[in-house]
Amino acid sequence: MDSDKNKIVKAGDLFFEPYLDREVILDRVSEMGVAISKDYVDKDPIFIVVLNGAFIFAADLLRQVNFHCETTFVKLKSYDGLASTGNLETLLGLESNIENRDVVVIEDIIDTGNTLHRFMQELSQLKPSSISLVSLLFKEEAFNYDYPIDYIGFTIPDRFVIGYGLDYNDLGRNLQSIYQLKS
Ligand code: IMP
Ligand code: MG
Repeated sequence: MDSDKNKIVKAGDLFFEPYLDREVILDRVSEMGVAISKDYVDKDPIFIVVLNGAFIFAADLLRQVNFHCETTFVKLKSYDGLASTGNLETLLGLESNIENRDVVVIEDIIDTGNTLHRFMQELSQLKPSSISLVSLLFKEEAFNYDYPIDYIGFTIPDRFVIGYGLDYNDLGRNLQSIYQLKS
């Protein structure tokens, strides 16, 4: 969508302004893909994509990985509208066996950290050899934990964003750039 990347967009009842251009995002995703390819080339990792928000990021990132790899999906929900609810719902659980595997979790954004904290605990009980975490966006000021985030695309302020997979009540996912809630 958003061919005019300088425009204000409306999603539901809210207005958003341009924040990260599509070209800037794609350059960074490509760098992340190169770094992950280098780190995992000898490891036969399994990638776990956290739906819904990470679907576009994962599609671009995984196409930069230069070896055959397994990819699977989970669907987690903890957000309602603009706020984290603190409750984690697993709407689609893990279907793959990750015992003794090197696991790479792909997320769109880490905000309070609640979603991934709970999910990483669940994953470690399944006895993987290692777990690392990739997130396109990281709201450092909002983060309440200290678990490592191994690959971060952009550290951003604590303001709500949409686009490139991220949504406001399911709107805005198909915007090619990322937009920030207008102040
Ligand atoms: P956390 O549990 O607070 O870390 O929130 C993580 C999840 O909330 C992300 O995977 C997103 O689905 C959603 N989320 C957090 N911040 C935003 C935002 O600014 N825009 C859209 N979704 C967000
Ligand atoms: Mg998400």
